[in-house]
Amino acid sequence: MAQRIGIIDSGVGGLSCLVEAEKSWPDAHYIYLGDNLRCPYGPKSDDEIIEYSRQMVEELVRRQVDKIIIACNTATAIALPILEKEFDIPLIGVIRSGAQAAIKASVNKKIAVIGTTATIRSQSYTKALKALDPHVEVHSLATQEFVDWVEAHEISGSALEAKVAEKLQSLTEFSCDTLILGCTHFPLLRGPIQKAVGENVFLIDAGLETVHLVMPEHERIFGEYIDQDTEFLTTGDKENFRSVAEWWLGRPISSIQSIVLGGEKDE
Ligand code: DGL
Repeated sequence: MAQRIGIIDSGVGGLSCLVEAEKSWPDAHYIYLGDNLRCPYGPKSDDEIIEYSRQMVEELVRRQVDKIIIACNTATAIALPILEKEFDIPLIGVIRSGAQAAIKASVNKKIAVIGTTATIRSQSYTKALKALDPHVEVHSLATQEFVDWVEAHEISGSALEAKVAEKLQSLTEFSCDTLILGCTHFPLLRGPIQKAVGENVFLIDAGLETVHLVMPEHERIFGEYIDQDTEFLTTGDKENFRSVAEWWLGRPISSIQSIVLGGEKDE
């Protein structure tokens, strides 16, 4: 029987994991849940992030998934340590795999991390990187506004490139050779980010690294197209979600359901 895999995010960012998962492991059945109504999580308190993440996990447990990828660095940093004690189901966060990939990629051992306000405040990446290599130098920067731009589908153009470059100015001074995109919304800004930091900086997509880590290699399918029956759940506006998701996945999606978390369900 096909594995049922849940993917959760505060909004559309986790779609960057779903794209990779659908492409390489099309046999699995995916249920994607975006809490778009309450996005962004990054500026919220730890208690709120934990409670909202808990509600998302509960929803997918009710829908009988076999495992859940927490495709949200903010929820991984703040809520995963608590939630993995509360639920029996495997919960897979994105930070450890992102840190591992960065340590492997970096030659000069100067690694930068960008993420939401809460992720950077938690220092989860710094701790994960230092645990793997105590000699590594880490520069962290909160770029919360990138999330708003992606949710509003503002992802290209010269005005955006200038804003991204201005925000990432301190990274060029740090002269890192590796930059962790420590928020699953950021791969959508990969082009402008790469341009801002220069071609010689290697970008790590923490979400993508996680998908590769958790999906069994022997079940991977190369180059085969299988019609996807992924279910999409959002707490926000269905049509907004559809337009970003279709753009990102490059295919029309039929099954989107509006849900209310922590309360009565709505169709
Ligand atoms: N996509 C999320 C992350 O990886 C969260 C963005 C937000 O809600 O602030 O951190």
